[in-house]
Amino acid sequence: MNNVSQKIIIGNWKMSLDYKKSLILAKKIISNSSKISKKNEVLLLPDFLSIGDVSKVLNKKILLGSQDVSPFSLGAYTGEVSLESLKQISCSYILVGHSERRQFFNDDLMIADKINNIFKNSSITPILCIGETLEQKKNGLTLSVIEDQLKKAFSKSKNISSKKIIIAYEPIWAIGSGRIVLIDDLQAVIKQIEKVLSKIFKNKKNLEYKIVYGGSVNLKNFQQFKNVPGVSGLLIGGASLNASDFIKIVNNF
Ligand code: PGA
Repeated sequence: MNNVSQKIIIGNWKMSLDYKKSLILAKKIISNSSKISKKNEVLLLPDFLSIGDVSKVLNKKILLGSQDVSPFSLGAYTGEVSLESLKQISCSYILVGHSERRQFFNDDLMIADKINNIFKNSSITPILCIGETLEQKKNGLTLSVIEDQLKKAFSKSKNISSKKIIIAYEPIWAIGSGRIVLIDDLQAVIKQIEKVLSKIFKNKKNLEYKIVYGGSVNLKNFQQFKNVPGVSGLLIGGASLNASDFIKIVNNF
């Protein structure tokens, strides 16, 4: 069920770059793509304005993903971006429920609908972000938060068949803070994710998943996650904005 054969390194550009800088970074990564080894999948998540033009400069070595999607089908939803549009620009992955979206945009309420929309209407792979706050961690609630977030996220798509997903464990206190999770704690979370998913999807053929870690991963610390059983990749924010650091991580993970 947990296919770890190929790892994935995801660059989440958030809203850190404007349109022009996003294109410059995409071209820089592409111009160095001969240096990128094929052993791992490489995925870039530009912002919504840049994603269409970034899709035109990428080559087959680099995959494209979006940072979010509307839970709705095409219609009168001002300001939203549809799954249909993302399919048309060959988006392979969609991030859902990033903690910044949960915190600033009330995303908690829509995650189950977004996952359901992606599963039902596309072959795009969702990347579901989960993770606890510092307060929840201090109160020993990490594993119950993980369980709760997974149950809610899949509450509308328990009966899916043959779908793929990436679960990104990103402790909120680790994102952009320079602090990373302890490997023992990460392993406990991985076990919990596996346990909860096998409970939700009793027929295991229904869901093939990979688990990635995110939160202050950089060139200096990424090796720590390399041989952790069950970790199939990294979700990188800040350090993905530097093409040469990002490529080094991609090639050496
Ligand atoms: P960070 O962000 O690597 O800058 O901590 C990770 C993320 O939020 O996806």
